[in-house]
Amino acid sequence: MRKWPSFVVALLVSSITFAQNKSASPQASLKDAYKDCFMVGAALNPAQFTGEDQAEDAIIESQFNTISPENVLKWAIIHPSPDAYNFSPADKYVEFGEQNHMFIIGHNLVWHSQVPKWVFEDDKGNPVSRDVLLGRMRDHIMNVVGRYKGRIKGWDVVNEALNDDGTLRQSQWLKIIGDDYIEKAFRFAHEVDPEAQLYYNDYSLENEAKRRGALELVKKLKAKGVAITGVGLQDHVSLEWPTTDQIDATITEFGKLGVKVMITELDVDVLPSASHTADVSYKAASDPKLNPYPNGLPDAVQQALARRYADLFGTYAKHCGLVTRVTFWGVTDKNSWKNNWPIPGRTNYPLLFDRNAKPKPAFDAVIQLAPKHGS
Ligand code: XIL
Repeated sequence: MRKWPSFVVALLVSSITFAQNKSASPQASLKDAYKDCFMVGAALNPAQFTGEDQAEDAIIESQFNTISPENVLKWAIIHPSPDAYNFSPADKYVEFGEQNHMFIIGHNLVWHSQVPKWVFEDDKGNPVSRDVLLGRMRDHIMNVVGRYKGRIKGWDVVNEALNDDGTLRQSQWLKIIGDDYIEKAFRFAHEVDPEAQLYYNDYSLENEAKRRGALELVKKLKAKGVAITGVGLQDHVSLEWPTTDQIDATITEFGKLGVKVMITELDVDVLPSASHTADVSYKAASDPKLNPYPNGLPDAVQQALARRYADLFGTYAKHCGLVTRVTFWGVTDKNSWKNNWPIPGRTNYPLLFDRNAKPKPAFDAVIQLAPKHGS
């Protein structure tokens, strides 16, 4: 594994100033800048992969070599009722990735959120048995993974199975099937597409207790011979949390278990914190104090965002080869989910491209920090 000496990273970070209006050369591209290190990607919505949003398409095609589906492969969208699959949006997503020669990710197969109630209930609304639920999980995975076999190259098989204290989340999957539901999901996915990379994906794994839980989970899966390729650190982060030391240690510890690490949902929240959790079910009430930049980001915060992104990419790039992919959760600030979570209707600035699809100082910072090719 190639490592950058940390003093090089520190020097670069401290010496770069990120001018508010200066943008990197139009030719600069994230995927090229990091090509010796990891793939760089973004999560896409339908307007992007159907060509409706041309400004964003230009960014996607020039900047990224891997894509994730923001919603179209989630259970509630692709399999809304027992006998109905809605494959059309996901088909278009996969076609878009193929046309652009991108590494295509599937997100996700088993999660507690965006999954219809019917999955867990019988005709009378009572919970189904373990065997029935395992059967439904298997059918779903066979149909969805099977349809895109050989085309979707990596799957988030299980998403967010852990609580903040590292214990297993009391989801319907756990309550009805038991704690081997995770293993089963991986086995079904591997059975239908043995070539696909299979990941466990979660947030806040940089926090000690949750990280311990995830390390234990990966160890157990590997001990049972389950085909797990990698762990996804979502990295919905803020300007302060987690520290780069926490991220560094987290990547190193998963690496020691022999799994790859991916940064799967990167964005940096610059707004006052409304929650200490990244659980999607969390919602906070609207409050103007928590939406301080509706008309633009002050320069000082813009600079802080650029420095934060430089620190993050410096840390990821220390682990070239162990970190195989860094994916942003969105393309421009305009459509980011962080405008609506955990408080609806805020103006957030979490990504590298602004609302007019122009690169921000944070983009320049990330490009300037890239390892030079062949070094
Ligand atoms: C989010 C999407 O971005 C939103 O459009 C949707 O309304 C809710 O889900 N962790 C995940 C992602 O694994 O699937 C979530 O995506 C963000 C948090």
